[in-house]
Amino acid sequence: MPSPKRLLALAALLVSATAIVPPGQQGSPDQTADDFTNPTPDNDLIAQTAGQVDQKSSAPVDAPPNADVPATSVTAVDGTVTNTTIAAVSAANSTRRDVGRFGKRQSGFKQLFAGLDKGVHDASIEGTAYLTYTVVNNATYNVDACLSWCAGIQGCVFVNVYYEFNNYLLDFVFGEKSNLKCAAYGDLHSAVEKTNFGGQASYPQVGNETVPLTYITQSSGWGLDSLVDPDTPDGYDLVFGPTNGANNAPGYMGFAFIDKYDVNACAQLCNGRGVDPNGGGCAYFNIWRAVVNGNPTTYTCSMYYLVADESTAVNYGQGDLVVTLSRGYARKNYLTDGGFEGYSGCSGFCFTDSYANWVGTSAPGGQHDATIFYFSPYAHNGHGSGLLGSAFGTDNKVGTLSPAQPIQTKNGANYVVQCFVNSAFSGSQLEASAKMDIMWNGVRVGGTSGYQLYTFVEAAVTGTGSDKLSFVGGAAPAWVFIDDCVIYEA
Ligand SMILES: *[C@@H]1O[C@H](CO)[C@@H](O)[C@H](O)[C@H]1NC(C)=O
Ligand SMILES: *[C@@H]1O[C@H](CO)[C@@H](O)[C@H](O)[C@H]1NC(C)=O
Ligand SMILES: *[C@@H]1O[C@H](CO)[C@@H](O)[C@H](O)[C@H]1NC(C)=O
Ligand SMILES: *[C@@H]1O[C@H](CO)[C@@H](O)[C@H](O)[C@H]1NC(C)=O
Repeated sequence: MPSPKRLLALAALLVSATAIVPPGQQGSPDQTADDFTNPTPDNDLIAQTAGQVDQKSSAPVDAPPNADVPATSVTAVDGTVTNTTIAAVSAANSTRRDVGRFGKRQSGFKQLFAGLDKGVHDASIEGTAYLTYTVVNNATYNVDACLSWCAGIQGCVFVNVYYEFNNYLLDFVFGEKSNLKCAAYGDLHSAVEKTNFGGQASYPQVGNETVPLTYITQSSGWGLDSLVDPDTPDGYDLVFGPTNGANNAPGYMGFAFIDKYDVNACAQLCNGRGVDPNGGGCAYFNIWRAVVNGNPTTYTCSMYYLVADESTAVNYGQGDLVVTLSRGYARKNYLTDGGFEGYSGCSGFCFTDSYANWVGTSAPGGQHDATIFYFSPYAHNGHGSGLLGSAFGTDNKVGTLSPAQPIQTKNGANYVVQCFVNSAFSGSQLEASAKMDIMWNGVRVGGTSGYQLYTFVEAAVTGTGSDKLSFVGGAAPAWVFIDDCVIYEA
């Protein structure tokens, strides 16, 4: 026999339950989230940070030739200057991609500037995207040997060829016995960037003799007409570019500077960016080169939770900063119509058990336990959303919503299922028991429980080639809405 106190509580529950108009009768949600504005880029912060980073370098005086090209590094994140790896900045679980895949190179190097006359002191390039250097046989001014070496270096689009004198290591230590340096870059540079005049003491001090300082002669530059078109990163589609406009689009999540024009590095940063509580995971990035006072200065990856396109690529720069080589890439979404916007049964209020893209399945004996609504007040964005739990509240059975077609995945590849889930309709008491499970080929991979306004949820899954996704839950009056679901490669 329940205590009188418990009976009272039960009666109160029943009263509040009967007072609730179910979603199927266009009831009002208990509470709706505050409106928010999708942020756009802080271009002043980007320009200001571009003024703080120093990504220019030349072949070091004391390092041996033929060092491996270092992995792309991050020089700033959201306005804070740093020097770190892509992996360290990526929040979690972002798959490592082929580092240093910059696309196919065409032949066609041309002289971009000549060296000064033999015997006259010259200077080598200090510029962005320095990769590595070698020395070539110095019996002649051997540009051809330098260019054919560059052809084997990933991303090499420019070389600086020069003699370096009074370098003890070149003269006596390194096996090549040559002082004709060939420095490879992943960007094009001009004679105004010849700012490294040497002047270092490389020879050992002997007695009180003056140590001869290094100096440079005949510093010439050779490059392609433009940077090579990069291969599109795995899990992405090229949306636009190259143009001279960066996106000024809504859904901005922040930016990072990287030390070369590396679309794969941006893709990794986007995959590992983490989530915006209102907008979800990174869905798009915009890579562009900042040219300051005529010289390449840094490479920006701007990240967005909304997919942008060329129509908003209208930031051409500010002050001394000019935007160049801007490209937009959208993350491939493997889930069709995860926002339920494809359901167009009416223009105001209606719902259905299924339509072309989604199928709702009721529990045995249940009615409308999984439905799709056209009604903006129930949606996270737009007008469509999915509902779990009997639409008219006629039973308390669990519903199942599934995409009409299996998900086409790559066997063995890692994916992430992301969704926004709302279990607030009937108020905090009745929704306390609300529950939703994300099922992948029949196995629970994630979910939510309890009262909540639209909240981001995600689950990590592995593809088998053709996969069955479903959302299972709701038990009226503990209804659960889902919206804005995506599947990305992790
Ligand atoms: C960044 O860090 C690496 C590894 O610690 C170091 O070799 C490199 O010189 C640093 N670069 C700058 C610009 O400080
Ligand atoms: C070639 O380089 C070696 C090693 O630095 C140097 O000793 C020699 O003088 C150079 N030869 C010419 C022709 O510059
Ligand atoms: C160097 O030292 C020697 C003796 O150790 C001295 O005779 C000579 O004058 C010195 N030369 C210079 C340039 O100081
Ligand atoms: C990330 O990795 C952790 C630990 O391996 C795992 O628990 C989590 O589900 C993963 N998250 C995503 C989004 O892949």
